[in-house]
Amino acid sequence: MSEQILCVVGTRPEGIKMAPVILALRNEPDINLVTVSTGQHREMLNQVLDFFGVKVDEDLGLMQPNQTLADFTARSLQALDKVMDERKPKIVVAQGDTTTVATAALAAFYRQIPFAHVEAGLRTHDLRNPFPEELNRVIAGKLADLHFPPTQRAADVLRAEGVADDRIVLAGNTVIDALLQAVAKKPSLPFPLPPNKRVVLVTLHRRESFGPSVQAVCNAVQRLVDRFPDIHVVWPVHLNPNVREPVQKAFAGSTTVQLCEPLAYNHFVATMNQSHLILTDSGGVQEEAPALGKPVLVLREVTERPEAVDHGVVALVGTDEEKIVNLATTLLSDEKAYAAMARGVSPYGDGKAAERIVVSLRRKLGLSARTDVSPLKIGATT
Ligand code: UD1
Ligand code: UDP
Repeated sequence: MSEQILCVVGTRPEGIKMAPVILALRNEPDINLVTVSTGQHREMLNQVLDFFGVKVDEDLGLMQPNQTLADFTARSLQALDKVMDERKPKIVVAQGDTTTVATAALAAFYRQIPFAHVEAGLRTHDLRNPFPEELNRVIAGKLADLHFPPTQRAADVLRAEGVADDRIVLAGNTVIDALLQAVAKKPSLPFPLPPNKRVVLVTLHRRESFGPSVQAVCNAVQRLVDRFPDIHVVWPVHLNPNVREPVQKAFAGSTTVQLCEPLAYNHFVATMNQSHLILTDSGGVQEEAPALGKPVLVLREVTERPEAVDHGVVALVGTDEEKIVNLATTLLSDEKAYAAMARGVSPYGDGKAAERIVVSLRRKLGLSARTDVSPLKIGATT
């Protein structure tokens, strides 16, 4: 009888980062894979699953407009529990730090099903930053039987928390697998960009930024387009109404700040590649942009991804209007400062994370490896 792995996804970044794992597992003839979506995101998840050609076996369709954390947590836990009861998988796999992953880990724990955590061991050690993701990742890590940290630092964090060596597999981040797959398909821009202008790409969505911080970022962006007539801002606006409403209000009718709907992954990758500078609070973009040689100003006070900051290719700027304007101004006007950050350093993986994860999941199921995969080389690749 073939073995059953249940992969759970819910939001856009999980769709992107689990796609390489799901596609690789689909190629294993002796593994019966079931992919379940909580539907924490609807349009934004479907957009990325479509791009990668990932078919979901069961879509729980749980998203509601402007859902609260407690409500979504309760509904997701109950719905996933039912799926796990019916499907009785041998392993549950989920990625990251969303409510979907925390509830998948908890539902698996209650059913005493081993849980494997992709992108394990990232920490700020501040439960309110990122909120509520730090707690979600700690919950998933506490309950996991198998941990796939993307970097040596994340593996060390898990060891320091008492996780045994034989439960930790240094895999690299599957986002680099996804990015390389997208780049190989020669992605195209979603729309023509103005010639002779430097593109500044902006994304924003974190809960800790709602309210005054969103406004401060909008003010900073407006001051930058006023100061630099040769820049053009592209801002794919997240569907969360807490971001969408203030951002649309700030830039309605603007020709220098181009708002657009969330972009399909190939279009977003092409836009990143065409950008001069990226301003974002996104986790995934912080990992992808350095691999493309694009400097990033992180619109957050702390990050659980310090590796690229340590390499000097990502800078933590926070959401203070003055600080954003000052640092962006330096990068937009000082060629040396810009060149120092635009170096194409990739500390998050080598594109083989999903292969390592599959080998390890096979071992966990008692199946022998079908292919060899080299260990992740520690340090950044360029
Ligand atoms: C969620 C995750 C966050 C992750 C982010 C990725 C939690 C608590 N938050 O934040 O960790 O970084 O996704 O983008 O797990 N919406 C739509 N359509 C969509 C997606 C969202 O309309 O396809 C709207 C809905 O009104 C929804 C709201 O956005 O209720 C918030 O979605 P939710 O998943 O709760 O939070 P995000 O801010 O998207
Ligand atoms: N992304 C995308 N289209 C967009 C904006 C982002 O495909 O319009 C991708 C981006 O390349 C990255 C991921 O979405 O891989 C990041 O998602 P998000 O910022 O929503 O979540 P986070 O990574 O912060 O959890």
